[in-house]
Amino acid sequence: DVTRDFLKALPKCEHHMHLEGALTPAVLFKLAAKNNISLPSDDSAFTSAETLLQRYERFSSLDDFLHYYYIGMSVLITASDFEALAWDYFEHAAADGVVHAEVFFDPQAHLSRNVSYETILQGFNAARVRAQREFDISSELICCFMRHLPAPDCEATFKLEDVQASYKRGDVVGIGLDSSENNFPPELFKSLYAGAKSLGLRRTAHAGEEGPSKYIEDSLDLLDVERIDHGIRIAEDPKLMERVAKQGTLLSVCPISNVLLQCLTSVAEVPIRKFIDAGIRFSINSDDPAYFGNNYILDNYIAVQNAFSLSHSEWRTVCENSIRGSWCSETRKEEML
Ligand code: HPA
Ligand code: ZN
Repeated sequence: DVTRDFLKALPKCEHHMHLEGALTPAVLFKLAAKNNISLPSDDSAFTSAETLLQRYERFSSLDDFLHYYYIGMSVLITASDFEALAWDYFEHAAADGVVHAEVFFDPQAHLSRNVSYETILQGFNAARVRAQREFDISSELICCFMRHLPAPDCEATFKLEDVQASYKRGDVVGIGLDSSENNFPPELFKSLYAGAKSLGLRRTAHAGEEGPSKYIEDSLDLLDVERIDHGIRIAEDPKLMERVAKQGTLLSVCPISNVLLQCLTSVAEVPIRKFIDAGIRFSINSDDPAYFGNNYILDNYIAVQNAFSLSHSEWRTVCENSIRGSWCSETRKEEML
């Protein structure tokens, strides 16, 4: 398949992949047994890995997905669990031709279960070191805060000694904002983002996935984000599109996720052509591959190609913009270009 080979060979950067979203039903059940974690007995989706996978095929919304996502991650306990999870992702990333990955994690979802921050980082870092050595994949960690939780709780997590130490060491390059979007507007997180900026951390936020384009604008104005995760609803605001194009803000778009969470009815509805015509920079990403039909980054590239038939030169521009919009060193960018 010539198209697949072409897309696979492109130097791809991934900017929007939640490591917890790489947890497959098979691994979920294996870790639940190993760690003695009981799964909900009143939901027949948890009968087996097969029934759970079938349930994943009919998410009705972001919140419906998040319900399963937060139960799923409750099986992650030891550093080796986190390492195996991240390694599973890096194996897929290598097979798909990823050269650089900036991956999200949700510390609050683990700290609340008495899993220490150091346990999480130890596991993820072990996998990252191995991915660099064995696959030549460079990576960065982005610490996400869950916006359905009270903002003061998010700020308290941000200020934890272990968390601050990871920023100072450079183990974590920046912060993000995820979870339920509607009714949890960017303005709630102004002081969190101001704190992150003062530490020199990079900043992004999920916005305009299910929520209105106003959340995109407010993320730029109130949180001073450098990237927007998803951002598809920017298409509703031509003025904002012009601004984002002019500023060069990168949108980390996740086409298959948008369809499976019913934000859009098909990949053809992702405003890819609009973005290209408006000069908006974007990267194409997998979001939560194990929850979204086992579709990793290359599957998302292929879905976009099937819907939009981009030219080779347009694809090279997508990848060049993705490299330039990455949060690695300038030296690393030059290597990838
Ligand atoms: N949106 C919000 N929260 C999330 C997502 C997403 O796409 N994936 C994992 N957590
Ligand atoms: Zn996401």
